[in-house]
Amino acid sequence: MELLHSAAIPSKQKLLIVVTISISLFTIIPLLYPFVEDPNFFFKQQHPSQTSIVKLQDSVAATHKSWDIFSGEWVPNPEAPYYTNTTCWAIHEHQNCMRFGRPDTDFIKWKWKPHGCEDDLPVFDPLRFLETVRGKTMAFVGDSVSRNHMQSLICLLSQVEYPVDASVNTSDYFKRWTYETYNFTIAPFWSTHLVKSTEPEPGKTEHSVFDLYLDEADERWTAEIGDFDYVIISSGHWHYRPSVYYENNTIIGCHYCQLPNISDFSMFYGYRKAFRTAFKAILDSETFEGVMYLRTFAPSHFEGGLWNEGGNCLRKGPYQRNETQDDVTMKLHKIQVEEFERAKVEAKRKGKRFRLLDTTQAMWLRPDGHPSRYGHLPEANVSLYNDCVHWCLPGPIDNLNDFLLAMIKREEEKGLLAQVRKMMS
Ligand SMILES: *[C@@H]1O[C@H](CO)[C@@H](O)[C@H](O)[C@H]1NC(C)=O
Ligand SMILES: *[C@@H]1O[C@H](CO)[C@@H](O)[C@H](O)[C@H]1NC(C)=O
Ligand SMILES: *[C@@H]1O[C@H](CO)[C@@H](O)[C@H](O)[C@H]1NC(C)=O
Ligand SMILES: *[C@@H]1O[C@H](CO)[C@@H](O)[C@H](O)[C@H]1NC(C)=O
Ligand SMILES: *[C@@H]1O[C@H](CO)[C@@H](O)[C@H](O)[C@H]1NC(C)=O
Ligand SMILES: *[C@@H]1O[C@H](CO)[C@@H](O)[C@H](O)[C@H]1NC(C)=O
Ligand SMILES: *[C@@H]1O[C@H](CO)[C@@H](O)[C@H](O)[C@H]1NC(C)=O
Repeated sequence: MELLHSAAIPSKQKLLIVVTISISLFTIIPLLYPFVEDPNFFFKQQHPSQTSIVKLQDSVAATHKSWDIFSGEWVPNPEAPYYTNTTCWAIHEHQNCMRFGRPDTDFIKWKWKPHGCEDDLPVFDPLRFLETVRGKTMAFVGDSVSRNHMQSLICLLSQVEYPVDASVNTSDYFKRWTYETYNFTIAPFWSTHLVKSTEPEPGKTEHSVFDLYLDEADERWTAEIGDFDYVIISSGHWHYRPSVYYENNTIIGCHYCQLPNISDFSMFYGYRKAFRTAFKAILDSETFEGVMYLRTFAPSHFEGGLWNEGGNCLRKGPYQRNETQDDVTMKLHKIQVEEFERAKVEAKRKGKRFRLLDTTQAMWLRPDGHPSRYGHLPEANVSLYNDCVHWCLPGPIDNLNDFLLAMIKREEEKGLLAQVRKMMS
């Protein structure tokens, strides 16, 4: 637990803390219940009041930290990585870059520094994370980049504990991983486009066209997430693929399908509709009471050509923070955020919590973090010969979990602060 960073708190905030704590210890202790399972926790401590003060300082400081943690830059972190391919078994074969001979390791050694913050974004604290999510469930809904993110989380947590396989479904795409000591469960839900889709027939990969039902939720996840405490959704790369768009069960057009007599739509149309439908499914859920995080698009970094034209990603370090995103990334991000904001209005009205894990810019600045040709054996016949889409583990995608923990802490502090305000009013 990183409790003891009180020195950085300015004096105005200290005043508020003093006011708050002087209400009486009796008022404070019940307020801290969200932090601890055991109601007698503070009575068992040697210095109960001191612990309470620090907790409150944390929470009060948090309200003043309302600035944007997602705008910033990468700074060196010589202490990384926090796991390797020998300490963590959860690394997917194609993201095990060290195994396939990636020669440089500097790309592992960075952390995020938000603009206007004195401190860096704290690096992931696995103990703090597990304490916070005790008894909770977390779903990762999306494609292989979402799985990449989940496996990064499992590897970071492996410093403390490994999960056991508690899957009911035998498919790798719908597993359940449980941390027994913490009764915490992680579940991936495979959903390439977030909406109902049918894959092209196998074997016809060259001219594969998806059927996307843009106004129908993908029930493989929407039917399940009602009970989850955290749902992290993301989507992106599959929308580039040729697809026929359906609405109301009728073909309305297609993206790059080159079929006669079907009008051409841009991928942006389908992307927007897919998010609208996904958010609507969560908004309409009768049972969902958790927090929905939209993890924004994580861009690829092909240079010198497209993925199938010999493009590659050979950089060894982050971009400067002034590097502008490519047009497609900017547009995809804009669409996501617009749809998110639109849904958030409705969410607020319904008392549902929608939060933005707005990591596109941070990930955009990391052209150095992809497997490139180190995602497979040199002779392997793989579709992404130079993989500039996924992220090496360990690697920059680990930092998504720094953001995730920061957001979860914020959520917890918001809850506490709301209670403090209520008591004081
Ligand atoms: C781990 O990476 C090393 C190179 O750093 C490699 O030699 C080894 O085969 C990898 N091990 C596993 C289990 O992937
Ligand atoms: C574990 O957490 C689940 C909710 O995620 C809860 O239903 C269950 O009762 C918990 N089990 C124990 C032993 O605390
Ligand atoms: C696993 O779950 C998915 C989504 O609900 C379902 O489509 C699939 O049939 C299940 N597979 C097995 C083997 O149970
Ligand atoms: C959807 O299709 C059905 C049957 O074809 C039709 O009755 C209905 O009006 C359509 N709804 C919309 C919103 O287009
Ligand atoms: C396309 O539409 C035109 C005009 O409606 C029609 O003559 C033609 O047969 C259609 N082609 C196909 C492949 O359906
Ligand atoms: C970003 O700033 C660096 C250093 O100030 C400069 O060398 C570089 O050209 C700039 N890049 C862009 C895209 O503006
Ligand atoms: C690579 O795989 C594709 C599709 O699976 C196949 O058509 C092709 O012949 C393979 N190429 C080699 C060199 O094995």
